[in-house]
Amino acid sequence: MQFKISREPITTLASDCIIITHTEDKDMLLGLAKEVDEKMDHRISQLIAEKEIKGKFGEVTLLHTWGKIPAKRVLVLGLGKEEKLTLEKARSAYAIAARKAQEIGVSELTLAVSQKYKDIWNPVDLGQAVVEGIVLGTYQFKPYKTKTEIENKIERVIISVKDISIDAVEAGVVRGEIFAESQNLARDFSNEPANKMTPTILAEKAKEIAKKHHLEISILEKEQLEELNMGAFLAVSKGSTEPPKMIVIKYIGAPDSKDMIGLVGKGITFDSGGIQIKPDKNMDEMKGDMAGAAAVLGAINAIGALKPHVNVIGVISACENMVSGEAVHPGDVVETFSGKTVEIKHTDAEGRLILSDAISYAKHLGATKLVDVATLTGSIISALGHHIIGLFSNNMDWTEEVKAAAKISGEKVWELPLDDDYAELIESDIADMVNDAGSPAGAIQGGMFLKEFAGETPWVHLDIAGTSDVTKTSGINPKGATGVAVRTMIALVLRFSGN
Ligand code: BES
Ligand code: MN
Ligand code: ZN
Repeated sequence: MQFKISREPITTLASDCIIITHTEDKDMLLGLAKEVDEKMDHRISQLIAEKEIKGKFGEVTLLHTWGKIPAKRVLVLGLGKEEKLTLEKARSAYAIAARKAQEIGVSELTLAVSQKYKDIWNPVDLGQAVVEGIVLGTYQFKPYKTKTEIENKIERVIISVKDISIDAVEAGVVRGEIFAESQNLARDFSNEPANKMTPTILAEKAKEIAKKHHLEISILEKEQLEELNMGAFLAVSKGSTEPPKMIVIKYIGAPDSKDMIGLVGKGITFDSGGIQIKPDKNMDEMKGDMAGAAAVLGAINAIGALKPHVNVIGVISACENMVSGEAVHPGDVVETFSGKTVEIKHTDAEGRLILSDAISYAKHLGATKLVDVATLTGSIISALGHHIIGLFSNNMDWTEEVKAAAKISGEKVWELPLDDDYAELIESDIADMVNDAGSPAGAIQGGMFLKEFAGETPWVHLDIAGTSDVTKTSGINPKGATGVAVRTMIALVLRFSGN
């Protein structure tokens, strides 16, 4: 998809479809929409008067222009109530509109950005949000359809800029493309089935990203993991014939600084549950148990492209959690890279095991601030459902940074506690800790476990088990993997660099 910025007004631009917007609380069109309406003999305002167009959020009405203006169609996009309008909503609304345009075979789409609604939106953020909406909303994953059907694809988007800085919009558009393409990359990785996204393939994908942006990368193989004593990671991977991979990518944008942000991702390319095997229903969804790893790779891809003045290290532990004669037994005790011992009470609580070694290793390599992203617990779905990421931390300042980044990206996070009272949830009779004690506070239990490995380093854990995929298309998310957390991590890194 190509973006072009133009000073030409939408009323004279030729294209397959132009988007104009309308809000719920106004009984008439404003600004450019009004100009289009006048050229169209007031047909749009007639529909508004007849309440056929209400301006409800996400409402889409398509009209043919029959030569009244050079564009073939007008798409009237409802933005909901004006006072409730945010950048996040604008992003979603443009996603819905673009998806509709894609569905009917529009290949050139035109829209306008102006100061019509809120002065507080700066043109950079507005340009970015609109582009993100369009690129994210029209995402498709169909590599395994052999039937050659004609695939609808928006090839070109023309953004007509009226009363605001064209350079600022342009800057936002460039950012939006990088942010959204990186999120789509993470979606691609997560949507791949487990036989097409093994730890080895994931490592290859990471190498491609590193090569594209000239980043340092190393892949630790099983033998090296053994030498390093990563007993927790190795225990999880033992039941599978697929070799485990520890992926480490480094971006050094501030060689003069000692600070380094560590982004740690859970890369379970399939989670069967291990010996304590999961029920049969929906087990296929566990191909997406590497969404945290995918998000880290997506973020690294954007960081490589944006080149901010900051150091970032991505650490991903990737393996399968399988059942076999070699698989780890419930009750096994393992030594982690940190030196702490763990009693594996539940083989299905594998995410925290592979993350414990990845977190310790990120620290060992110099990370001074940590964020881990993981599809860690079913429990977070009980707590927050499918709309909000669970956030856990050992540090208030770092938490505020991540929350601020999430606010910018429009990805919602909600903090849950890791009070000392919960320490008993990981107490073991025979080792330093257990990976599960059957607590109903499952997401907190997972967080308490990881906290032991973060130690004194400021750390935030994002549990994305509820938000990493959707079963129904809505807003910026077409059905399937969402690529959630990618844009929050990019925003976090940019904020940290002062960009
Ligand atoms: N990968 C799962 C968590 C998950 C559940 C992700 C649903 C996406 C959707 C994780 O490895 C797991 O199995 N967690 C267990 C832990 C329990 C055994 C302590 C859980 O949450 O049930
Ligand atoms: Mn599991
Ligand atoms: Zn898992």
